[in-house]
Amino acid sequence: MIHQTLKCFPKDFLWGAASAAYQVEGAWDKDGKGMSNWDQFVRIPGKTYKGTTGDMAVDHYHRYQEDVKLMAEMGLKAYRFSVAWTRVFPNGRGEINEKGMEFYDHLINELIKNGIEPILTLYHWDLPQSLQEEYGGWESRRIIEDFTNYSVELFKRFGDRVKYWVSLNEQNIFTSHGYLHATHPPGMKDEKLFYQVNHHANLANASVIKEFRKYVPNGKIGPSFAYSPAYAASSNPIDILAAENAEELNNHWWMDIYASGKYPKMAWSYLEEKGLTPIIEKGDFELLLEGMPDFMGVNYYQSTTFESNPLEGGIGAGKMNTTGEKGTSKDSGIPGLFKTIANPNVERTNWDWNIDPQGLRIALRRITSRYDLPVLISENGLGEYDQVDQGDVINDDYRIEYLRSHMIAIQEAISDGVDLFGYCVWSFTDLLSWLNGFQKRYGFVYVNQHEEGDHDLRRIKKKSFFWYKGVIDSNGEKL
Ligand code: NOJ
Repeated sequence: MIHQTLKCFPKDFLWGAASAAYQVEGAWDKDGKGMSNWDQFVRIPGKTYKGTTGDMAVDHYHRYQEDVKLMAEMGLKAYRFSVAWTRVFPNGRGEINEKGMEFYDHLINELIKNGIEPILTLYHWDLPQSLQEEYGGWESRRIIEDFTNYSVELFKRFGDRVKYWVSLNEQNIFTSHGYLHATHPPGMKDEKLFYQVNHHANLANASVIKEFRKYVPNGKIGPSFAYSPAYAASSNPIDILAAENAEELNNHWWMDIYASGKYPKMAWSYLEEKGLTPIIEKGDFELLLEGMPDFMGVNYYQSTTFESNPLEGGIGAGKMNTTGEKGTSKDSGIPGLFKTIANPNVERTNWDWNIDPQGLRIALRRITSRYDLPVLISENGLGEYDQVDQGDVINDDYRIEYLRSHMIAIQEAISDGVDLFGYCVWSFTDLLSWLNGFQKRYGFVYVNQHEEGDHDLRRIKKKSFFWYKGVIDSNGEKL
């Protein structure tokens, strides 16, 4: 833990980058694709910046060969992408849409041909709208069967070529934004339902992992959790307690169930008192135990600092950090008993997110001591307003600095004894930032796409592209 020398990155370390179907693909109604909850939600006036949709996104659906070529040029070892459920099953279940499957077949083959390990995410927030309308999507236990059937078809089709799978992406974010803050589909505010929806998602996650063992016995699967480690605002014991409560309710609540099949006791007892615990049916905990993951996927962007709320005190549900885009970590929260405060010890981005590389090390160490699982960093990156200078030059030194400092923290965590096998930077190309249009950019590759005006979609390599190439080439020696 206190080491004199830093360990090197493992030999087969997966230096990666990530994306999600809705944010890159476009072609929202092409080749038989059905309508997703996001296709529907972005059409409601006022929901997104300037009404931007993912109808075209960055047109990866038609330009995936060009994009993979850029990945190969960079020397990328792994690419994490998600499958749009509605391409495969336009209505969520029933007949397979062969054209949809073909797209992912081609993408996967192209990646493999270029020596890039595919990491496939089963669910990155785009739910078939027909399932939302028919039975409320995640609100019903019926989702377990439909999500399992969909996933099994992907296991059968791609299991021979895809070794790494992510089950649910940021369950804590898509459920809190969808059911507490009303900022994502289905746009509701219902705390009781929020916990029930999460229980269904936990069961669906376990069910899918259970099936995975049959179809892809040599593969690895795990969820991706948006982990924002909780800090105490001071050494005042009431602040320490507030931070521990936040960790219990905002983080252990999800990660414990993934890693042990159990809900954390203190959070359960608090929620029980408030009448918020989900309805559990016979056999639920058995299923949860059958769905243990091979690794914990971590999406890390920032830490969150808590202080006690003198008005209410107690364990309390607090502010939930967001990586769901729009605004800051301060604008969301379960109405509650502890408060987030700005951490005076860290800098902030132009989007008002903390820049805290040590927070990543702390997150990795906490996961290792509590769960003792291998870890994949499935997302980490910097969202900024990038500027294209004359001659198509983008000097994103701030991104390089951000990534470099986080990679040092990762190396320290590996030296601490964390079993980390990959790091996926969010994102490879610029992409749609859900509610923020294309103003907030994360990519190594700029895409000339805007909410309005000029958008020829041409790809431009940013300075960070060449820097990351050097990192990969030297297996992390040249940071
Ligand atoms: C979280 C999500 O997984 C991704 O879709 C989002 O765009 C990034 N992190 C940035 O917030």
